[in-house]
Amino acid sequence: MKVDVLLGLQWGDEGKGKIVDVLSEKYDVVARFQGGANAGHTLEINGKKHILHIIPSGIFRESTINIIGNGVIIDPFILNNEIKALYKKGVDPRKNLKISKKAHIILPTHRFLDAVYETSKGKSKIGSTLKGIGPTYTDKTARRGIRIGEIFNNDFIEKYNALKEHHFKIIESFNCKTSDFKIDGFSFDDYENKWFEAVEKIKDIEQIDSEYFINKCLDEEKSVLAEGAQGTLLDVDFGSYPFVTSSNTISAGVCSGLGVAPNKIGKIYGIVKAYCTRVGRGPFPTELFDETGKKLRDIGKEYGSTTGRERRCGWLDMVALKYSVMLDGVTDLVMTKADVLDSFETIKVCTKYNYKDKIIDFLPYEIDDDLIKPIYFDIKGWHEDITKIKSFDQAPQALLDYIKFIETQTNVPVTILSTGPDRDQTIIRG
Ligand code: GDP
Ligand code: IMO
Ligand code: MG
Repeated sequence: MKVDVLLGLQWGDEGKGKIVDVLSEKYDVVARFQGGANAGHTLEINGKKHILHIIPSGIFRESTINIIGNGVIIDPFILNNEIKALYKKGVDPRKNLKISKKAHIILPTHRFLDAVYETSKGKSKIGSTLKGIGPTYTDKTARRGIRIGEIFNNDFIEKYNALKEHHFKIIESFNCKTSDFKIDGFSFDDYENKWFEAVEKIKDIEQIDSEYFINKCLDEEKSVLAEGAQGTLLDVDFGSYPFVTSSNTISAGVCSGLGVAPNKIGKIYGIVKAYCTRVGRGPFPTELFDETGKKLRDIGKEYGSTTGRERRCGWLDMVALKYSVMLDGVTDLVMTKADVLDSFETIKVCTKYNYKDKIIDFLPYEIDDDLIKPIYFDIKGWHEDITKIKSFDQAPQALLDYIKFIETQTNVPVTILSTGPDRDQTIIRG
């Protein structure tokens, strides 16, 4: 068997959590391969909403094993909160959740550093979720990070203190003190105590050599779905740098984030929202600052699942989408939130850019909103409620035309259509 991959093709929040939950019914294993609690993946099951940050979105299926892969970075405090929330819902993650021993840990000082760096950037802030993502991946690549497998070792505290001291020196060099910031509303000392309590609690979750586990599953013909976080346009190499996250969000990240060889990758599901959103700072060529943008945000309920921040909204950017499809090798497109466009007269798609007075159809090295002006193609709206349709046959012609347009432009079929947030509002083609 091969590992199928599911990832976002825009700037995150495409609806990955919802689609993983739907697809996980037919997968034996779901594994997250990168990111951390900067992710917020929303699932709606029978009208009830659940938000996951680190735990894979297959957790509500008892027979599916969920793995937090080595490429993910874990904050024990946030993970423990997620586990507690699941217990309250009658889900026991001790049964079907496993953690890679090689996943790196987010220390309280990593979150502290994130805040210090963001504050020091002034106007050039990235708009980080402040979950400690950048500093933790920095320590991983600088070879001084701490892995989750080390929490059982006697020298864990010693290593923790050494890294904390190193962080304090950096913090002092910015003329900051621990009393300058709060973490999730707690003082540093209170948060650190809670963090250590959480480290003890997460010892209940089985730690594994996930690369061996996953490859063994494949050898035994078990099906594995790799769940991405963030989106392709936030990739540290190919996103709108420096307004990106600190991991490889593209499909290649599955190989390093789970220990799966490139020739073991199967289908690649690329999730595309029917329009675009972005949360945090950075270029967004099709962003709308007018009533239409506000309408997209209101109908689409575009507020961050992790931070509650307003998401910036705009039309679908086909130039960027084609770039993502190329980087990820997408085999199947999944279109989400088409229902948000139900009442729109005209739907616009950006097919080219006017860049420094030249017409181009690729993402230039300098992605600067002042230099790029989108050129739009108009598509007729469908003016129909699609939230209850159950098959492509029942879809309005104008929606089918929109889908066809995307398929023709990207050369990839749309095989899944999501018509609402609930698990049941999903149409799988054929
Ligand atoms: P993720 O980070 O990619 O998992 O996406 P988020 O959960 O952050 O944001 C997607 C939001 O859209 C969530 O509130 C979902 O419940 C919701 N959603 C997902 N698919 C659809 C859809 O087809 N229609 C509508 N209206 N909402 C959707
Ligand atoms: P999911 O998995 C949307 C954005 C942040 C910020 C930038 C860097 O829910 O799609 P970081 O905290 O990684 O240092 O932030 O990336 N960002 C996301 N935007 N969805 C996400 O995850 C995101 N994770 C990070 O807003 O602009
Ligand atoms: Mg999200």
